[in-house]
Amino acid sequence: MMWGGFFAVLLLALMPHAILSAEQLEVEAVYEWKQMVFGFATEADRQDAIDNGNLSPENATPIDVAVHQDCEKGSRVFTTIPRFTTGIPYTLAVVTEANEANGPVLQPYPDYSWHNSNGSDCDKITSVFRVAITECNQLFVLDSGVIAQVQRCSPQLLVFDLNSDTLSYRYRFDPSTYTAAASLFITPTVSVNDPPPTGSCSKVQVYMTDVALHGLVVYDSELNTAWRIQNRFMYPNPENGVHSLAGELFTLMDGIFGLASDDEQLYFHPLASVHEYAVPLSVVSNRTIFENNSGAMPLAFRQVATRSSSCAAEAIDSQNNIYCVTFNPVMLTRWNPNKPYNVQMPADPQLLEFVSGMKVYKTHTGNEELWMMSNRYQKVANGNLDFNEVNFRIVRRSLDDVQNATN
Ligand SMILES: *[C@@H]1O[C@H](CO)[C@@H](O)[C@H](O)[C@H]1NC(C)=O
Ligand SMILES: *[C@@H]1O[C@H](CO)[C@@H](O)[C@H](O)[C@H]1NC(C)=O
Ligand SMILES: *[C@@H]1O[C@H](CO)[C@@H](O)[C@H](O)[C@H]1NC(C)=O
Repeated sequence: MMWGGFFAVLLLALMPHAILSAEQLEVEAVYEWKQMVFGFATEADRQDAIDNGNLSPENATPIDVAVHQDCEKGSRVFTTIPRFTTGIPYTLAVVTEANEANGPVLQPYPDYSWHNSNGSDCDKITSVFRVAITECNQLFVLDSGVIAQVQRCSPQLLVFDLNSDTLSYRYRFDPSTYTAAASLFITPTVSVNDPPPTGSCSKVQVYMTDVALHGLVVYDSELNTAWRIQNRFMYPNPENGVHSLAGELFTLMDGIFGLASDDEQLYFHPLASVHEYAVPLSVVSNRTIFENNSGAMPLAFRQVATRSSSCAAEAIDSQNNIYCVTFNPVMLTRWNPNKPYNVQMPADPQLLEFVSGMKVYKTHTGNEELWMMSNRYQKVANGNLDFNEVNFRIVRRSLDDVQNATN
């Protein structure tokens, strides 16, 4: 018996990678929190947060995750904590390797001075839901400008250079693209038209969702301007507004929420919806079309796929596989625009619940990994989080099996 087991292990070890990778790979937890843990570079910063009534970790729900690797700084994992309410000392953070009883310690990015204005200084960062990192080593931060449903500042896009951790540029949205307190800018996705090594990263388009007022906003770095696009497919469907997740019901009537793009199409879905939609990039990227009519070219928008239930964040890999985690049942799904069906990738229901942030990250060896923020939003919505349990997880799944299989 013992020897049989030994040979089985040996055989597995000797099998070529391609055969092994036909098996499903696992989702693994990288970081886990019972409650978010806010670290500070200095005791004075911590005291400042306390004095301003801004250190209530029980109010914090992490939303996004993004990974970056740098030969000098090593790999860094970013997360966002939007200011749904007060008590959040900073809204954009790096996860450190230091641990406390509730989980890994965060540090503010780029530093605490960017976060402590409480919405009174619009040159700082007010409240961030999601970010995007590009092949140009830039971190795109979409700041909603909203704290506890009050529009404290205009929404803005901040671009940080991840080599120097300094601000490269900023774009403040003007009232032609949003309505104060009614709009909520939550998700950016960036396409770089002149990537390195040959390009200079100066031709960038950023697509952003206004989840609350059901619009898409496009920013063009060459024109240094933004425009608004609206279409009926960006609205929530009331029939998909009540969700069941991990045995709990909650109501969330969010409109256009998740975004992903390949070279030709922009894919998107409202949260209260079971459909995925697409529109050609050549249409949404053309400012002239929407300049005087945000509802132009309604027939360029198409429904392209249907799911078993709603999902929140989505991401796309280099082989045009689009990933999303449905609510009921909780299932990591993969859909490819060239194939008519969704593929379900079983995942441990302990590890995946409400996946609010998702990115495909390419490691320095060129392999792609799916990184997800799973945050039990159903319990946040119902006010029944139990801080004795793990509530927030950053998880990772290698995509080697999927990509080798579809090759
Ligand atoms: C921060 O803003 C909140 C919400 O308006 C307010 O209650 C609080 O007093 C403010 N704190 C400071 C230090 O301004
Ligand atoms: C943008 O759209 C306008 C109006 O439809 C069209 O005339 C123009 O050629 C388009 N520009 C590009 C770059 O496709
Ligand atoms: C949009 O309206 C402005 C002002 O009326 C006009 O100058 C411009 O030509 C219009 N643009 C298009 C693409 O129709």
